[in-house]
Amino acid sequence: MGKKISDHVTWVGKIDWELKHFHGEELSTNRGSGYNSYLIRDRKVVLMDTVWQPYDAEFVARLKEEIDLRDIDYIVMNHNEIDHSGALPELMREIPDTPIYCTKKGEAIIRGHYHQDWNFVNVKTNDTLELGETTLTFIEAPMLHWPDTMFSYLSGDQILFSNDGFGQHFATESLYNDTVDQTELYYEAEKYYVNILNLYSANVARKIKELLAMNLPLSMIAPSHGVIWKNEPEQIIKKYLEWADAYQEDQILIVYDTMWNSTRTMAEAVGYGIQKEDPKVKVRLMNAAKDDKNDILTEVFRSKAVLVGSPTVNYGVTYAIGGLLEMMKGLRFKNKKAASFGSYGWSGEAPKQISEKLQECGFEIICEPFKTLWVPDQSAVEECRNYGIAFVEALNIG
Ligand code: FEO
Repeated sequence: MGKKISDHVTWVGKIDWELKHFHGEELSTNRGSGYNSYLIRDRKVVLMDTVWQPYDAEFVARLKEEIDLRDIDYIVMNHNEIDHSGALPELMREIPDTPIYCTKKGEAIIRGHYHQDWNFVNVKTNDTLELGETTLTFIEAPMLHWPDTMFSYLSGDQILFSNDGFGQHFATESLYNDTVDQTELYYEAEKYYVNILNLYSANVARKIKELLAMNLPLSMIAPSHGVIWKNEPEQIIKKYLEWADAYQEDQILIVYDTMWNSTRTMAEAVGYGIQKEDPKVKVRLMNAAKDDKNDILTEVFRSKAVLVGSPTVNYGVTYAIGGLLEMMKGLRFKNKKAASFGSYGWSGEAPKQISEKLQECGFEIICEPFKTLWVPDQSAVEECRNYGIAFVEALNIG
C-alpha cells in the first residue's frame, strides 16, 4: 500500500532492504536502498517516476490497490536510468497511451532502453503542468547525474521531486529524515554524493543557486532514493553546497594494500609520523583490499591529503590499488594533496606509478615516492616515520 505524504501526494515506491550493490558492483549499498515513486492526485493524476525492473510487477500490482491505472492522466519521468524507469514497460502494457513527460534527452534514453514508441511530451525548465489546485513546474538539471535529469516542483504541497539529487541508498520504512539515525543518514547521503555526484560538483552548485534564486517555498524535498527531507529540507541543500565546494576536513587518509605486511608496516609507521608531527589532524588508515571501496572513496573526499601505498607486484601495483586509483580518477576530487609509498623486493616501480596516476587524478604531489626494500627493519620504520613528518611539513608549507 502507498503512504500519504501530503494533501495530494502518496508514496508508491519500493523499499529494497536487501540491495547490497548498485550499478553492478560499482557502488556498495550496505544499508539497502529504495526506489521512490509518487502518485499526485489532484483534478489530474500524475505518476512521478517508477521503480527498478525486478520489482515491476509488484509495483504495478500495488499501484492498482491505490488507483485504477486508467485514472492516471500523466506519467512524469525525472530521470530514466533503469532504477527509475525499469517498471515503465510493465506499466505501459496496461496504459499504453498515457503521456510520458520528460526532457528531450529523457525521451531518447527511454527509447534507447525500451524501444517503444510511447506518447512522449518533452518539457524544459519553467514548463508547467496544471493539475487543478496544484501545478507542476519542471526544472532541467542536466548531469545531475545523467543528461536527461530534471526536477519537478509541485506548488500547493510545496514539494521538490529531485530524483537522484539529495538521495541516499538508505532503506527506511519511516520515509522521513527526522525518523532515522542522523549519523547513518548523513553518512549515506555523503557517500551517495561522493560516488554519484562529486564528478558533477560544478553543475550541482550552479543548479542549487538557480533553484534558490527561484524562491520556491519548500515543505519537502522528495528524492527517488532514501528518505524524504521533510524536517528542515534546506539542511540538505546547505550540505550539498558545502560538498560541492572542494570539500575537505582536517584529515589525512593512508590507503594501502599489502601482500606480506611490509607495506602495511610502512603505512602504520607513516601514520605514526604524521600524528607525531601534527597531533590535531585526524589520521585514518584503510586497506584497499579489505575495506569497502566506496567507503574509502568517501574518506578520500573528506581528506585534505591522501597517501597511497602498494607493494610492487609483477612490475606494477596490486589489483585493489589499481582499481581504486581508477575510481579516484573518475570522481575528480578537487584541492587534495598526495604522496605514495610501498615495499619492494627487486624492481620497485609501484610508488612511482601511483604518484603518476595520482597526478592524473588531479592530486598535487607534495613528496617524492617512497619505497623500502623487503621487510622494513627498525631503521626503515624510522624512515617511514620521518616520511610522515616530512609529508606534514610539505602539506603545511603548501
Ligand atoms: Fe537512481 Fe541515476 O538513478
